[in-house]
Amino acid sequence: MMSFYKQKFTAILLMLVVSLSAQSQDKGLTPADKSKIDVLLKSMTLEEKIGQLSLFTSDWDVTGPSLNGNYKKLIKNGSVGAIFNAYTVDYVRELQRMAVEESRLKIPLIFGYDVIHGHRTIFPIPLAQACSWDMAAIEQSERIAAQEATAEGLNWTFAPMVDIARDPRWGRVAEGAGEDTWLGCKVAAARVRGFEGTDLKATNTMIACVKHFAAYGAAQAGRDYHTVDMSMLSLYEWYLPPYKAAVDAGVGSAMTSFNEIAGVPSTANRWLLTDLLRKDWGFKGFVVTDYTSINEMVNHGNAADNKDAARLAINAGVDMDMQGSTYLDYLAPLLEEKKVNLSDIDQSVRWILEAKAKLGLFDDPYRYCSKERQEKEVMTPEQQLFARKFVAESCVLLKNPGQLLPIPGNIKKIAVIGPLGDSKKDMLGNWSAAGNWEKCVTLVEGLNNRPGKQYEVVYEKGCNVTDADRSGFDAAIKLASTADYVILALGENGWMSGEASSRSNIDIPGVQNELAEAIVKTGKPVAVALFNGRPLAISQLNSLPVAILETWFGGTQAGNGIADVLFGDVNPSGKLTMTFPLNLGQVPVFYNSKNTGRPYNPADPGAKYVSRYLDCSNDPLYPFGYGLSYTTFSYSALESIVDGGKIKVSISVTNTGNRDGEEVVQLYVRDKVGSITRPVKELKGFRKVLIKKGETRSLEFNLTTDDLAFYHPDLKKYWEPGEFTVFVGGNSAETMAKTIEVK
Ligand code: NOJ
Repeated sequence: MMSFYKQKFTAILLMLVVSLSAQSQDKGLTPADKSKIDVLLKSMTLEEKIGQLSLFTSDWDVTGPSLNGNYKKLIKNGSVGAIFNAYTVDYVRELQRMAVEESRLKIPLIFGYDVIHGHRTIFPIPLAQACSWDMAAIEQSERIAAQEATAEGLNWTFAPMVDIARDPRWGRVAEGAGEDTWLGCKVAAARVRGFEGTDLKATNTMIACVKHFAAYGAAQAGRDYHTVDMSMLSLYEWYLPPYKAAVDAGVGSAMTSFNEIAGVPSTANRWLLTDLLRKDWGFKGFVVTDYTSINEMVNHGNAADNKDAARLAINAGVDMDMQGSTYLDYLAPLLEEKKVNLSDIDQSVRWILEAKAKLGLFDDPYRYCSKERQEKEVMTPEQQLFARKFVAESCVLLKNPGQLLPIPGNIKKIAVIGPLGDSKKDMLGNWSAAGNWEKCVTLVEGLNNRPGKQYEVVYEKGCNVTDADRSGFDAAIKLASTADYVILALGENGWMSGEASSRSNIDIPGVQNELAEAIVKTGKPVAVALFNGRPLAISQLNSLPVAILETWFGGTQAGNGIADVLFGDVNPSGKLTMTFPLNLGQVPVFYNSKNTGRPYNPADPGAKYVSRYLDCSNDPLYPFGYGLSYTTFSYSALESIVDGGKIKVSISVTNTGNRDGEEVVQLYVRDKVGSITRPVKELKGFRKVLIKKGETRSLEFNLTTDDLAFYHPDLKKYWEPGEFTVFVGGNSAETMAKTIEVK
């Protein structure tokens, strides 16, 4: 009886979820919109239909290899459905006017852009944002990004990038949420909600684009655009879920990835784009390629020429060709040759027209062209305040010997030394959209901006980021010797991560380590502010008696937010979402790996035939989930109660230091015996909580057996009864553990 009701309830729940997700996918598309689109489709020539499937860049920004200067002519011809890299009200209005006044059918254009971590107000790079573990702040940053971008004519962003990445050589780790799939799903959904809001017709929301579908983050050897090859099981278990989370959150578009998977470039992968994305996941937005990725299939070697590539793409389920002109040039002859179907072309046009209707462009093509909004809603003081707080929240304190940080209040002279101490341009990081580097606050400026400051700030560069010039060392050492406290500003240039920025060596570049050693020899207290877009191999720096604050690239408010942390106005609470290796040889090193049949046992360090390195530990320098605070936390009273399919985990966390602080309390699970092997640990929950000094907080996590499910060789996801270890702690390596049985 019980189980009958349970089944019925589950079925109703499932119907509700499906219909809610269908609603969130519809995003305000009305029956009237749909019939308007039917009428429009009937009046379109084949050329006009193909035009809707074509996306071209304006000449305002360069985000790829080739530019098409003809875009204005194409707009007037009705040969373009959307334009990217064009913004500001005047410019968008000018191009939109060409579309709606000079083209035959007057179909408005969509305007897209890479709004990746802010539009004008640039926030920390996405990897840094993820280290805040603050989903509300991540969502809010996209809300602000959408507010600013739509105030400048845009209505489509090529974000979020949700590619799981385990190899820090790959420069695009900067754009994602890190190595963990579970957390990646939460971040993906938060970003989509932030950009799209609940109503796409609102003038301050925009269509998001989940990318790069799929598994772009698994490029071999961390080299951008390189081949991806993995088992279907890994694809389902680790790489696909964040894209699915974005789809479930209602994302309006998806971008194919440049890479192939098992011999099939994503742009030609019908299984991926049609069977999985459309049929299994119910995606109702439109699919766009990445920049010329149709044409690139000729290089991949699965298409004879651009025409052949266009055939593969449309037959796979690609709706819009970004910058490749292959649809424009070849879809008509391909149709005549019966190599593609009109019904597929019509369906693609429909998805794109629906997107335009969802944005309200048919009601008013200029609805994102308000001069008033452009003046009032961009770079506001509130947006700057939020950005500053977000910078501070994204910083991760890696090391703090002898409580070198926060900087003591009685310091009279601070020397900032290092190539990144006063470099506005670098603060933006990669993909800075319409961010203006001149408006960025550097570390030196941030230190000087503090109201009522009682100290002097002096600066010497010491060296450049990448070359071997040591001629500035002497001046830097001399200046440091005159100060009471030194902040070393070291790391990578902003351009060294992001697209096409893979590195084969992830050390701190140039002679910066040497500079650090020389400065430490002055005997002054030293804290390092590290600027970088990926985990670096920092063992050499780490061996020095210095504090290290990972600041990433903080964007417009970088210096102010970092100063807030350095002085302790904000107690750091960030935790790494990507492992910092001991050295490059360990890469890829990530927390949720498998145990192997010959695991290394620290109690038997001399054992030979075990899975280990001869020359270094298996453990990374800083594990996933790691980050210090100016206070300390202790964990106790881990309990776990299993009641049917429900697992309740409770823990007490005490602030044992002498200042209030936020802690990211993390819950991991290990399935001890599975029909296929399971990782040594998997994140299944977290709570970010403020704990006052001396206070103990009891926290509870509630899991169900769904949280224990994993993909099986038949690609079905279900859980297996048995023993599980539950871990709770402040990072993935230091946890309390309890074994439970779930039947
Ligand atoms: C190529 C990048 O891979 C993609 O992320 C970006 O959105 C496009 N270029 C457009 O700039």
